Amino acid sequence: MKKVILAYSGGLDTTCAIKWLKDKGFKVVCFSANLGSEFSPQDLKKRSLQSGTEKIYIKDLRREFAYFYILPALKAGACYEGKYLLSTALGRPLIAKYLVEIAKKEKASFVAHGATAKGNDQVRFEVSISILNPNLKIIAPLREWELKNRQEEIDYARKNKLPIRVTKEKPYSIDKNIWGLSIEGGILEDLKKIPPSDSYLLMKPLKKVKNKEKYVEIGFRKGMPFSLNGKEMDLVSLIEKLNLIGGECGVGRTDLIEDRVVGIKSREIYEAPAAWILYTAHKELESLTLDRETIFFKELISLKYAQLVYQGLWFTELRSYLDAFIERTQKRVSGKIGLRLYKGNITVVKRSSPNSLYKRELATYGDKDLFDRSFAKGFIKLWSMPYIKW
Ligand code: ARG
Repeated sequence: MKKVILAYSGGLDTTCAIKWLKDKGFKVVCFSANLGSEFSPQDLKKRSLQSGTEKIYIKDLRREFAYFYILPALKAGACYEGKYLLSTALGRPLIAKYLVEIAKKEKASFVAHGATAKGNDQVRFEVSISILNPNLKIIAPLREWELKNRQEEIDYARKNKLPIRVTKEKPYSIDKNIWGLSIEGGILEDLKKIPPSDSYLLMKPLKKVKNKEKYVEIGFRKGMPFSLNGKEMDLVSLIEKLNLIGGECGVGRTDLIEDRVVGIKSREIYEAPAAWILYTAHKELESLTLDRETIFFKELISLKYAQLVYQGLWFTELRSYLDAFIERTQKRVSGKIGLRLYKGNITVVKRSSPNSLYKRELATYGDKDLFDRSFAKGFIKLWSMPYIKW
């Protein structure tokens, strides 16, 4: 019998996919990666078995995700179209990597995923899988089956008595991991409507957020965040903690009209409190510790890096070259950044670093000024000379 390894999230699409693949004559083995998902392992196991899977692998990959996917992207300063810190996009290559490994172990020649024909995730999964093992055959049930929309999937699931968790009233498609939540679909597709309060998942709408500010201090060692308010923490705990604190203050929600790989624009809402706090703090520490030419050049790298991640090109040569450059810059990026979180705002309020390039003696307008004012006049003459000649 043909065997397929299905990336199973526990959501509507992949639950229907188990049944559909089985009906096509496959022996279905599920793989669920826990990157900080909304479903518990017990729940995933119960529901996948109820839906007809033979066996399920559930792996807690939060650590690997944090240190080998999130951290490089954080050091890179990767942000897609100014508003997306790439939570979903970073998770896909990691899931693909394990699909390939499990297929080898299970001697399966097929793998399957629950991504749609319009989305980026099909690209990320399939490009990654093909790079890692070009011989695997990939099935994307959502591109092939006759179910045309979420409602038809819900009806299909009900008809086949599949255990699902969506309701007709709240038909958002959600992808959740520790780096953020992606929310789309339903009423959010109507750009003229204000997002309803039930589309707020990690946080409350701002007017309901407590009128209280929170101070957080993040410690970094060579670009890696390692402490919160003076307490050392592993990266997963730090991110999870910041999601709670930031969520309470309503920070890190963005609403983006984004350009998908397949060429369409779509609207997605992201909730990523920890990601935005760490991104802001890290960038600030770079401002303090890197020279201006490196900062300027690294911004170009950040843009390219975000695009690579978004477009499913994680397992590529270029990414490893960029990582090498970025890693080299990070050796100076140590220190502490203090931030105030208040009603949706993240404000940097304190900075310190043993590698700080800020010299108060040079910057000051007070006494103890070491800046030699006599240099300025000549400098400006030379600086403007080519333009004056022109
Ligand atoms: N648009 C985001 C991306 O391409 C998220 C995709 C998944 N979104 C979702 N709501 N299931 O990375």
